[in-house]
Amino acid sequence: MENVIVIGAGYMGGGIAQVVAQAGYRVYLYDSKPSAVDKSLDQIRWSTEKLESKGQLKDPAKEVQGRISATPDLKIATRCQWAFEAVYEDMELKNDIFKELDNICPVQTILASNTSSIPITKLASGTKHPDRIVGVHFSGPVPLMPLVEVIKGDKTSDAVFKASLDFVIALNKYPIKVMKDIPGFVMNRVSSAAFREGFDLVAAGITTVDDVDMAMKWGVGWRVGPFEIADNAGLDTYLRVSKAYKDLGDESFAPRPLLEKIVQSGRLGRKVNKGFYDYTPDGQKTPFDITSLR
Ligand SMILES: NC(=O)c1ccc[n+]([C@@H]2O[C@H](COP(=O)([O-])OP(=O)(O)OC[C@H]3O[C@@H](n4cnc5c(N)ncnc54)[C@H](O)[C@@H]3O)[C@@H](O)[C@H]2O)c1
Repeated sequence: MENVIVIGAGYMGGGIAQVVAQAGYRVYLYDSKPSAVDKSLDQIRWSTEKLESKGQLKDPAKEVQGRISATPDLKIATRCQWAFEAVYEDMELKNDIFKELDNICPVQTILASNTSSIPITKLASGTKHPDRIVGVHFSGPVPLMPLVEVIKGDKTSDAVFKASLDFVIALNKYPIKVMKDIPGFVMNRVSSAAFREGFDLVAAGITTVDDVDMAMKWGVGWRVGPFEIADNAGLDTYLRVSKAYKDLGDESFAPRPLLEKIVQSGRLGRKVNKGFYDYTPDGQKTPFDITSLR
C-alpha cells in the first residue's frame, strides 16, 4: 500500500485525506495545530458513515477511517510516495514547506500543492528538485466534487505531471490539465470573476446576495450560487486568496475592503454558521445584509 501525507488538516486537507483513503492508500494527516487534525478526523468519520449509509462507499467506513492516522511530525513524509500540501494560502508558508519536504523526502516522492492561486513555479523556487513539484487543486467539498486541476509548473517533469493525472483518476475524480502556470489557474479565475462581480453589485446596493445566487442558479444553471460557494469555502480563505492574487500583481482580484470587514466581524462562512448567510442548526439560511457593515 502506498503512503501519502497530507499537510494541513483544514477544510481541504481533511477532504483530501478522506478521498485518498477511500481509494485504498495509507494516509498520514499533519497540522501545526493538533486540534485541527482531531476536528478533521471527526468530520471524516461523519462523512464516510454518511456515504456508507447511502451506498456510495466501496469499502466499509471503518476500514477507510482505519487507513488515516494523525501524525505529530512532518518526518513521516520520509516514508511517503506522495505529499499533498493544503495549508493556508500564503506563498512564503507554502514555499517553506516545499523546501522542507524537498530536503527530507526521497527524490521519487511527488510533492503536490492544493493552492488556489499561487503559481507552482513560485512554490517550487529554492528547492533542489522543482521537477517533482506539481499543482493538484481539488474542489471543495472534496468528497463530493469530481473536478481536480492538475497544474504543470515551469519545471514540473512530464513524468510527474502524468503520474499526477493518473493519481487523480485513481481517486475516481476528473482531472483537467493546466499546461501554463498562471495565478488562479482555470476554474478559480472563472469562478472568482463571477464572485467579484456579484460582490461589487451587492456592495453597491444594486442587489442582494441571495438574488445573485438565484440569478446564477436559475438563470445560468449553476447548482450553487457564488455566495453559497464562498460560505462553504470559508471567507477567511477567500480573503487570503484575493490577497495572494494582489501580491502576484493581479489588481482585478484585490481584496475588497468590505470583504475584509466581513471577515474581521467573524462572519467566516458555514464553519461558524454565519457568512453571507446566517445558518440555523436545521439547515435553514437567511441572507445577511453585508452593506450594514460598511
Ligand atoms: N476552501 C476551499 O474551498 C478551497 C478550495 C480549493 C483550494 N483551497 C486551497 O487549499 C488550501 C487550504 O485551504 P482550506 O480551506 O483547507 O483552509 P483551512 O483554513 O480550513 O485549513 C488550513 C490548515 O492549515 C494549517 N496550517 C497552517 N500552517 C501550517 C503549517 N505550517 N503546517 C501544517 N499545517 C498548517 C492550519 O492549522 C489549518 O488547519 C489553501 O491553499 C486554499 O487556497 C481551498
